[in-house]
Amino acid sequence: MSKKSFYITTPIYYPSDNLHIGHAYTTVAADAMARYKRMQGYDVWFLTGTDEHGQKIERKAKSVGKQPLEFVDGIVDGIKHLWDKMLISNDDFIRTSEERHKKVVQHIFKKIYENGDIYKSEYEGWYCTPCETFFTERQLAENQVCPDCGRPVELVKEESYFFKMSKYAERWLQYIEDNPDFIQPVTRKNEMVNFVKQGLEDLCVSRTTFSWGIPVPINEKHVIYVWFDALTNYISALGYGTEDDHLFQKFWPADVHLVGKDIVRFHTIIWPIILMAAGIELPKKVFGHGWVLLAEGKMSKSKGNVIDPVILCDKYGVDAIRYFLLREVPFGQDGYYSEEALVNRINIDLANDFGNLLSRTTAMVNKFLGGIVVAPGEGTEFDEELVRLAKAIPGQVEELLDQMEFSNALALIWKLVNKANKYIDDAAPWSLNKDPQGREKLGTVLYNMVEVLRLTTVMCTPFMPSVPEKVWTQLGMIDHKEVQSWDSLVWGRFPAGTAINRGEPIFPRIDLKEMGNEEELPQKQASPGKSLKEEGKPEEFEPALPEITIEDFGKIDLRVAEVLACEKVEKADKLLKLSLKVGEEVRTVVSGIAQHYRPDEMVGKRVILVANLKPVKLRGIESKGMILAASQGGKLEVITVESVEPGGRVK
Ligand code: MSP
Repeated sequence: MSKKSFYITTPIYYPSDNLHIGHAYTTVAADAMARYKRMQGYDVWFLTGTDEHGQKIERKAKSVGKQPLEFVDGIVDGIKHLWDKMLISNDDFIRTSEERHKKVVQHIFKKIYENGDIYKSEYEGWYCTPCETFFTERQLAENQVCPDCGRPVELVKEESYFFKMSKYAERWLQYIEDNPDFIQPVTRKNEMVNFVKQGLEDLCVSRTTFSWGIPVPINEKHVIYVWFDALTNYISALGYGTEDDHLFQKFWPADVHLVGKDIVRFHTIIWPIILMAAGIELPKKVFGHGWVLLAEGKMSKSKGNVIDPVILCDKYGVDAIRYFLLREVPFGQDGYYSEEALVNRINIDLANDFGNLLSRTTAMVNKFLGGIVVAPGEGTEFDEELVRLAKAIPGQVEELLDQMEFSNALALIWKLVNKANKYIDDAAPWSLNKDPQGREKLGTVLYNMVEVLRLTTVMCTPFMPSVPEKVWTQLGMIDHKEVQSWDSLVWGRFPAGTAINRGEPIFPRIDLKEMGNEEELPQKQASPGKSLKEEGKPEEFEPALPEITIEDFGKIDLRVAEVLACEKVEKADKLLKLSLKVGEEVRTVVSGIAQHYRPDEMVGKRVILVANLKPVKLRGIESKGMILAASQGGKLEVITVESVEPGGRVK
C-alpha cells in the first residue's frame, strides 16, 4: 500500500537582506510539522525557497553596483546556510530565478490569457515597492502611505496586463463557504471574506518600467508581476505542466501553505483565483500565523533591531531556539521575543524540567540499580496517576499538532515532564533504596521514569531534532529505533535490562553573567501547573550518598586557605596548581577547576580546604588536600569566605 502524502510549504523569502528570527519562525514551524508527519509515516514533501524577482531586488542590487542575480546569489547562499544551521529538513529549495520555475509561470500566464482572463490595459495607481503591492487611492493609509508597512508609495502609470479577479469573487466566496477550514485561523478567514464581499478589482499582473522578472510570454516588453510569479512556486517546484510532473501528481494539492499574517491575502485570494482560472485544484489549507514582535514593535532593518537567528543559534543552541519559538508564541497569535524570555525557557523548561529529569533518572539508575533498568513489578501508590497521564498525552499531542497548535502541544508534553519530576519526589526512590522490602518498587519507579523520558523525547523530536540522540545515548537506546518512532508512543515499550550511560547535562543552565551580560535576568513569575522551581519551592534534594553520622563528618578537617599563587598545569586542560596558605603552612593543591577559573582570578581568594585528605600525585605534582566547590549543570563555583583568616576551621 502506498504511503499517504503530505505537502507543506513556507513562503519563499525575499533575498534582499539577511533573514531574521521572524522569518525563521515560519520555517521552523513548517519543519516541525514536516518532521512530525514523517514520523507518522507520511510521505512528506517540504518546500521552501527564495522570491528573487521584482523592483525591490532590482533596486537593491543596483544600489550596491551588482547585477540582480549576482546580488541575490550571495544572499541565497546565506539563507540555505541558515536553514542548515536550524536543522530545516526541506526536500526542495526553489529559486524563482531558476529555469524550471520560469517555464511554469509563463505556461500558466499563457493558459489564463488564452482562456480570456488576462487582458491588456493601462494601470494608473499606487505601488509599494517594499511590499511589491498595488493599491488604489482609497486603500492607502493616512498621509498616503502603504497601509501594510507604512512606507511611502509610488504613483505608477504604465501599460499592463490585468487578471480578471473580479469575475471570480462569487465563486471564491462559495468556495470558502463549502470549505470552511481552508483559511485558518478563523479570524483570518473572516477578514478575507469581508475583504472580498466589498468587491474584487482586477489585478495588474505585469510591469514595464523595469526588467528583473519573468517576461510575459506573449509580450516580452512586460515582466510578470512578482506575486503572480512567486505564488506559482508551489507548483513549479513540483514540475506542474512539464514532462516530469510526478511530484505534482503525488503531492498536489498542498496540505498546507504556512504563511505569516501579512501575506494571507495573497495566498487565500489571489493564489486560489489564479488556480481557479488555470483549472488547477486549490490547496487544502492556508494557515496564517502571527508575528514575532519585539517590545518596541516590529523588527526592521531600518530600526536596527533585527534579531539574527545565526547568532542566537551559536549562543544558545539550535534546539533551544526552535523550542522557544514554538513554545513561547501560541501559533496564530502575535508574540514577543526577548532574550530574557528565551533564557527563562532554557533554564526552566529545558535545563530544570527536562534536563534534570534525565540527570536524576540516570543518576538513580546508576546508583541504585547498578546502571541497569529492570522490568517493572510491584509499584507504588503514585504510579497510576503518572501512567494514566502518560497514556493519554500522546493522543492529545497528536490532535494539537494536527491543528498546528505547537505551543499547546509542547505545554502538554511538559505537563508529563513535570508530573514525572513530582512523581520522583512522591515515590522517593532514595527511601525505597534503603528499605530491603522496597527493591521491587524501586525498580518500578525507575522504570516509569525512564519510560516517561522515552515518551517525551519521542514527542519532542519534531521540535528539537538533535536532542533525541543525546537522550537515547544516555538511556542506552541509540540502536533501538523501534522505540523511538511515533507509533511507539505506547506505554511500557522501554526494554527492561537496558544499560544506561549517564552523561553530561543535555541543557546546561545559562548564566548570563558568565556570557558577558551585566546582570542575570530575573526569573519568570511562578504560575500554576509549572515546575517546582518555578513555584519557588526549594529544588528537590536527591541524597547522593549513604547516610553518615556527625562523628563521620567530624573526621574531615575543613580549613580556610588563602590562594597565594596559581598556575595552569601543563598539558592538562582541567587542572590548576594552587599554592595555599593554611595557618603558617604553605601547601600545594591541584584542582580540576581550570575550565571555570583563570589562574589570576583565583589569587587572593579564601577557599575551603579539605586539609586532612590523603595526598595524591596528579600529573607528577603532589596535591595535599582539595578545595571545595559547588556545581550544577555545567556551572562550577569555588566556595569562599570573606574575612576568616587562613587556618580558620570550618564546621
Ligand atoms: N516573498 C514573499 C512571500 C512570497 S510567497 C509566494 C515574502 N517574503 S518575506 O521574506 O518578506 O517574508 C516571508 C515570511 O516571513 C512571511 O510569511 C512573513 O510573514 C514572515 N515574517 C517576516 N517577519 C516576521 C515576523 N517578525 N514574525 C513572523 N513572521 C514574519 O513575504
